[in-house]
Amino acid sequence: DKGNFRHFMAKEIHEQPEVVGHTLAHYLDLASNQVALPDLPFDFANINRLSLSACGTAFYACLVAKYWFERWAKLPVDVDIASEFRYREIAMDPGGAALFVSQSGETADTLASLRYCREQNQHVLSVVNVRESSIARESDGVLPTLGGPEIGVASTKAFTCQLTVLACLAIAAGKARGTIGPELEAELVEALVEVPRHMAEILRDESPYEELAHSLSKARDVLYLGRGTSYPIALEGALKLKEISYIHAEGYAAGELKHGPIALIDESVPVIVIAPRDELFDKTVSNMQEVAAREGKIVLVSDADPASVGCAVQTTLAVPTVHPFVSPLVYAVPVQLIAYYTAVFMGTDVDQPRNLAKSVTVE
Ligand code: M6R
Repeated sequence: DKGNFRHFMAKEIHEQPEVVGHTLAHYLDLASNQVALPDLPFDFANINRLSLSACGTAFYACLVAKYWFERWAKLPVDVDIASEFRYREIAMDPGGAALFVSQSGETADTLASLRYCREQNQHVLSVVNVRESSIARESDGVLPTLGGPEIGVASTKAFTCQLTVLACLAIAAGKARGTIGPELEAELVEALVEVPRHMAEILRDESPYEELAHSLSKARDVLYLGRGTSYPIALEGALKLKEISYIHAEGYAAGELKHGPIALIDESVPVIVIAPRDELFDKTVSNMQEVAAREGKIVLVSDADPASVGCAVQTTLAVPTVHPFVSPLVYAVPVQLIAYYTAVFMGTDVDQPRNLAKSVTVE
């Protein structure tokens, strides 16, 4: 049932404040501002690497998680696309830890990677939205996302719920490894608790997205740029746009611009820059200036004042100021809306895009 929405995707985008809130309530103790995770199949204090694998949007959730685990828990993380991981014949130290992320819990490559890890005597943990799925059944531990059924082929609420669980897990890892003390834990938990409110604020006025769709729909190629945890959000934004509008889009780490993609920039290429005003903001601004100097049309997704960037910004999509830890959760929403409104304007089948299946159970 789509309720009052035109598409399941719109309904699922709008459910995010609620389902992220549910997921947070499940993994946090809100009274004490602490994480409250179930028993895990391994102790973060006793591992020296964590291996993450997944496909598509779930893979991008893993990429964000890598930044979190490395920064906040000082835990080295390997992230792999499951279809690559499964055939790489990776040597793994027995007793290591592997984490799999999947909305459906049935993705063939992710399941095969999980089985490979089991053969390598890894402790297997999974983050799934479907609790009765194969991936959940074959894991030593399961952390469910509480997103509810996701019908739209383009993943939205499942992604932000995956990020929510992974954020809680990263805090738990930091606690276990002694890199997060009580004060920092409370700070990060409080930041997470604010996420549903920030999401709701973005969803209060979607008219800037509707308007942007007119110009984006004319583009042949769109570039998404971001640094740090905004880099996987740039990748996710590009994937969403490709999937439902069929416009060619690429996500790049902003620092990679001059290593190739800058050759594509001219006045016909919209460049969507995911740039929260964080410690990397000034670096991203200089990339924006390089784009503007070549007449690229900048769409700035940020809490910053566009007048402060010293170059022409065509459109600004304003995002509330948030703690840098949670910015990928909040900035996921604007990139979903960009793709959604562009696809709606172009009249594509938003919920059932051509050639795609909701669950990819064959490789
Ligand atoms: O069910 P899974 O999370 O394992 O699915 C993984 C990908 O197939 C999925 O995220 C896909 O990329 C979506 N269509 C993204 O919108």
